Amino acid sequence: MKRIAVACDHGGYELKLEIIAKLKEMGLEVTDFGCDSTDAVDYPIYAEKVCDAIVDGKADFGILACGTGIGMSMAANKRRGIRAACCSDMFSTKMTRMHNDANVLCLGGRVVGPGLACDMAELFVTAEFMGGKHEKRIAMFDETRA
Ligand code: RB5
Repeated sequence: MKRIAVACDHGGYELKLEIIAKLKEMGLEVTDFGCDSTDAVDYPIYAEKVCDAIVDGKADFGILACGTGIGMSMAANKRRGIRAACCSDMFSTKMTRMHNDANVLCLGGRVVGPGLACDMAELFVTAEFMGGKHEKRIAMFDETRA
């Protein structure tokens, strides 16, 4: 069973609840790393919790929600081994799994509605990485550059 780590800030709180319900309905193992209300919080703290779960091998994928999805993706992508994609459509969601082997999906609670977001979450955790020529490109992310 796939294990999904989920977190949000206040801007993504309502959307996160919808996504958690969807993932549980799919029979997946979901861990919610907060936040727990619409009170203002700092999104990098919550991005880090989900990244920790993935890097430590405790989760297969992460889903992060903030107001736009952008801040969460920027914070998550600071972490080695994390490939976070901020998406707001189905095609990008599918392609970022197939070509980029993204392991974190970032969504904007003020950008996408719950129906689309839940469909995207389902697609993200079920689409397969194509491998092949894409392996080499992804490996290049971890090369040190000036
Ligand atoms: C919070 O107001 C907002 O800045 C945050 O949710 C997110 O959109 C940042 O990228």
